[in-house]
Amino acid sequence: MPVCQLHGAAVTTVEGIGSTKTRLHPVQERIAKAHGSQCGFCTPGMVMSIYTLLRNKPQPTMEEIRETLGGNLCRCTGYRPIIDGYRTFCEVISSFISGFLHAVGESLEPFRKLLPLDPTQELIFPPELILEERATQTFRGERMTWISPISLDELLQLKSQHPQAPVVMGNTNLGLDIKFKGVVHPIIISGFRVRELFEVTEKPEGVCIGAGSSLSTVRSVLEKCVCSLPAEHTQTLAALLEQLSHVAGEQIRNVATLGGNVASAYPNSDLNPVLAAGNADHLCVIPEGKREVPLDKDFFVGFGKTVLKPDEIVLSVFIPVSRKGEVVRAFRHAPRKENALATVNAGLRVWFEEGSNVVKEMSVYYGGVGPCTVSAERTVQQVIGRPWNEATLSDAYRALVDEVTLGASAPGGKVMFRRSLTLSLLFRFYLHVLQHLKDTVRPPSVTCSVLWSACPTSSSPDVPSGQSEQDPVGRAVQHQAALSHATGEAVYCDDFPRTQGELFLSVVTSARAHARITHIDVSRALSMPGVVDVFTADDIPGKKFRSFTGIDEEILAQGEVTCVGQMVCAVVADTKPHAKLASAAVKVHYEDLPDRIFTVEEAVEKRSFFLPQREIQRGDVTKAFQEADHIYEGEIRLGGQEHFYMETQSMLVIPLGEEKEMKVYASTQHPTMVQEAVAETLGIPSSRVSCHVKRIGGAFGGKLSKTSILASITALAAWRSERPVRCVLDRGEDMLITGARHPVLGKYKVGFMSDGRITAADVRYYANAGHTPDDSVIEKILLHMDNAYNILNLRGQSAACKTNLPSNTAFRGFGVPQTPWCSAGQLKREKNLYKETSLTHYKMEFDPEVLLRCWEECKERSELDRRRLDVARFNQQNRWKKRGIALIPLKYGVGFAEGFLNQAAALVHIYKDGSVLVSHGGTEMGQGIHTKVQQVASRELDVPLSMIHISETSTSSVPNTCPSAASIGTDVNGMAVKDACQTLYKSLEPIRKQDPNGTWQSWCMCVCVSIRGHDLYMDWVKQEGRPYAYFTYSACCSEVELDCLTGEYRTVRTDLVADIGRSINPAIDIGQIEGAFMQGLGLYTMEELKFSPSGVLYTRGPGQYKIPAVCDVPLQFNGVGEPTVFLGCSVFFALKEAVAAARSDAGLSGPFTLHSPATPERACIACGTRFTQMIPETETAQPWALELP
Ligand SMILES: Cc1cc2nc3c(=O)[nH]c(=O)nc-3n(C[C@H](O)[C@H](O)[C@H](O)COP(=O)(O)OP(=O)(O)OC[C@H]3O[C@@H](n4cnc5c(N)ncnc54)[C@H](O)[C@@H]3O)c2cc1C
Ligand code: FES
Repeated sequence: MPVCQLHGAAVTTVEGIGSTKTRLHPVQERIAKAHGSQCGFCTPGMVMSIYTLLRNKPQPTMEEIRETLGGNLCRCTGYRPIIDGYRTFCEVISSFISGFLHAVGESLEPFRKLLPLDPTQELIFPPELILEERATQTFRGERMTWISPISLDELLQLKSQHPQAPVVMGNTNLGLDIKFKGVVHPIIISGFRVRELFEVTEKPEGVCIGAGSSLSTVRSVLEKCVCSLPAEHTQTLAALLEQLSHVAGEQIRNVATLGGNVASAYPNSDLNPVLAAGNADHLCVIPEGKREVPLDKDFFVGFGKTVLKPDEIVLSVFIPVSRKGEVVRAFRHAPRKENALATVNAGLRVWFEEGSNVVKEMSVYYGGVGPCTVSAERTVQQVIGRPWNEATLSDAYRALVDEVTLGASAPGGKVMFRRSLTLSLLFRFYLHVLQHLKDTVRPPSVTCSVLWSACPTSSSPDVPSGQSEQDPVGRAVQHQAALSHATGEAVYCDDFPRTQGELFLSVVTSARAHARITHIDVSRALSMPGVVDVFTADDIPGKKFRSFTGIDEEILAQGEVTCVGQMVCAVVADTKPHAKLASAAVKVHYEDLPDRIFTVEEAVEKRSFFLPQREIQRGDVTKAFQEADHIYEGEIRLGGQEHFYMETQSMLVIPLGEEKEMKVYASTQHPTMVQEAVAETLGIPSSRVSCHVKRIGGAFGGKLSKTSILASITALAAWRSERPVRCVLDRGEDMLITGARHPVLGKYKVGFMSDGRITAADVRYYANAGHTPDDSVIEKILLHMDNAYNILNLRGQSAACKTNLPSNTAFRGFGVPQTPWCSAGQLKREKNLYKETSLTHYKMEFDPEVLLRCWEECKERSELDRRRLDVARFNQQNRWKKRGIALIPLKYGVGFAEGFLNQAAALVHIYKDGSVLVSHGGTEMGQGIHTKVQQVASRELDVPLSMIHISETSTSSVPNTCPSAASIGTDVNGMAVKDACQTLYKSLEPIRKQDPNGTWQSWCMCVCVSIRGHDLYMDWVKQEGRPYAYFTYSACCSEVELDCLTGEYRTVRTDLVADIGRSINPAIDIGQIEGAFMQGLGLYTMEELKFSPSGVLYTRGPGQYKIPAVCDVPLQFNGVGEPTVFLGCSVFFALKEAVAAARSDAGLSGPFTLHSPATPERACIACGTRFTQMIPETETAQPWALELP
């Protein structure tokens, strides 16, 4: 929303509705009490969405809550607790509350005391703004002028004076070009205050809607018309309504306008195909008068172009009512059900001769299959004058295949899929019209209210009887900062107030995948306003690289670049906009180098690997293959995954001006690495650098190594300028620079007996590491390759491929999600589970009893046997919908294989007033470590939780910290705090004895430090070790329903059983499990990183990269008890089963390959329906995107 547009508006932020210091708003309180806030970065957004809803409707329905949250993303929680918290505003809430509280073993008390919602207490619109005089406003900035007229005449006049100036309305299209493509408009005219653009007129022949109407307003108008008009007149209106419910999310629909949607002529517009099919008209105006322009095939003339003249404005859109005998429908398919642009959409209309099924008129428009909305005219000619039956439509499909085509390199890729969608959407329309001809039913409403008919529940054990009321361990204690998150008081790195003389740093990245830098021209950048410094690797006083796993990674490129996105130099300026503009003005000259490598296949062919490669083997694999009844060989790909933490990489470095001291505030999981990296880069001792982390807005492994390099560059800027320097990456920069989860190619050979027992497996894993090894996952992959299966003859080899892509890095699960995965698809799982105390393939002994218990419990709770039969029955009865169900086990090793990384330290101060300040080495990134550590300290010191405070993680309080990762943070830091507290408590004993009637406050006066660690190791020469402290076990059963025509699927139900040992805080653990599951669901079925053939990352924001949203939560989600991303693959394997059922109907039998993520594209093509089979092979041109890994 442009700030000029806000003139005259009253803006309410999360801070304005309530506070911990005054009074909380119920919306803030409820998300906190329901454990709906983890890292907290998304929480203010959630709060304000629901606040807005409640301002409009104090007792909303569940569907309204779900729809409102549809535009809010959360990467931590899995959404269930957020929905649970807000369910309480619905009329019927009691069953939820008791269910939830039972689930977390809590008493009803806190929920009985929920703050009531009192609409009379809400802020009112400031009267002074209502009274403000209406007049044209003009705002002038450094590079643009914003003019906001108040009448149509004025608007037209301005437009004729400045025909090239755009008319901004919702800014949802224009704003993207300005922000992401750097488009500059010297003059912008706002139509926002021109009343004539908002007029709505209903007439008998149709409805005329002002072009300035928001899509939400259009929706309300259409809803009203559909309810009041006779059904036969509502076909186009209802089809438009159906489409509108899927356009973006509510936040966008509230500002995006109808005129903007039409005029921007976006090829994927959902409205234009329906408007065109429904014979809509525009009323366009120019200073000289008005003209009616039909919205038809001639209206769109190219990408973003229409027949409108530069000085013309769309005043309104006229949507005619449908005639008797007319049927209109709209369809769309998108990578995510909500908040995603359509891959392909369609508006279709047919008009029949009265009383017959002979087609009199027809129009078919598609979006997403060309540079603009496309009319399938020749296809339509096959149908007109003929009866509506299979034979007619078969001719239409054939014509459509020839008419609507896409070249192999078409932007957006997915060529075969998109073409097959044109056919299957037409087929859908055919079925719909057949039904209509039969019983003239109204098109069904497409809301997914079924989603919330089932209440997701999770449960965990209660605390032992007899545990003291004050002892918080094992209880569902609210996240210690939840209220601060919900009120906007929580401070993240970029919230630190600007300090005197502070500068901003922006990095310049390589535009080439492999090239020699011949020259860097910084002259223009240096002359730009506010620019203070531009520096390169030559200016680094200390070490010019960071060493990870023994291999150097350059901090800034030195002479040669090896991927697009590699940091080349940095620009420092007084403000962020100045730094960004100047970094865009730096000219890097390159000379391309040969032999670019992007894929694993290319790396294998050119032997481009990082060393070492790893191998592990047990048993006699060769012999076991000879003796196996059957052998199956194949390969499987797993795509990468972007961390998509909500808070991008952020840091602030303050030089203290004395003795070379630097204070670094960073959003990092590894403060010590940041400290060391900064010290080495500047060539100063670590003792001069302190790193401080208050909290992190999500990390998931992405803020381990990558942050330290960025912090080093920022520190160098601070060092050179002797001023504080801040660096906060934009989302696109962050995605481009910081890498992702390693994509992996697994080539496997499995030997098995006729009864399903696996006797031999040989798997070669190739991870696409990118241009540096960073935290290569290849060891962890081999250590987890057995997963929960006892395969006596097992061989694994793994290699990290060196390619010219950004360097991949740690990500939750760190190789595990890529590992057992290969085998899981091939196994008869139950038969091959570890059944008794066994040695892993690296000779670590373990007892699988808990694993088996998880498996059995999950099987029983999910009613697997019965539901398998139901699934088979469903599949028999349905041709175009198929179901699949899969139960997956997991054995997960906890800890780092390097023993020294499994230690922690704590510093506990007890002050004279009895209050306790705990510092430990773990960082709070949403996983609730501070809350759990407070619980531990509270128990050990026997004081209420409220007396324990954790302020930050700092290398000056606790030195040489280990990263908060590998699921070991709470274990080791909690134990360190426990040791420290026990020592302190003991030291207070003589005082307590002396003064038994004294209070805690009167006993307090000590300080203590404690260290604790695990002795873990892995000897790769002997191929044995004890790389994990212990294993956690879990099992997960998911059922999906797949639409074979589009590949869309829905997780019908998920049951997850996990061993969490003795939980310190069940609510936090459940939240972690659900959040990890949803991240896994995204990994295995949705999230796709796309690179251009020259190695440029296309997917650089939420518009192109889709993570799971509220609409993706399983319809029924039952969880018990350790967070595991891997278990999201239960959805993948359920999908594979559903695809197998569809293939069987299509006459395709035998094994087939389905790579991950199993996106709708992959699932649909794998189904092998007649529509995908009709698409001819495309010519062998270069595809739009690389096929990774
Ligand atoms: C996150 C996101 C998700 C989206 N999802 C979808 C989706 O699922 N389906 C879909 O169809 N669209 C989607 N869109 C696109 C959105 O619907 C359009 O951007 C929006 O309708 C454009 O309206 P606006 O008022 O914001 O236009 P602006 O950005 O204000 O203007 C866009 C262009 O239209 C011109 N213009 C605006 N009004 C007029 C007028 N009255 N006369 C002449 N020219 C005019 C402007 O000059 C400008 O060139 C999405 C957009 C976003 C940001
Ligand atoms: S709590 Fe939602 S993104 Fe972290």
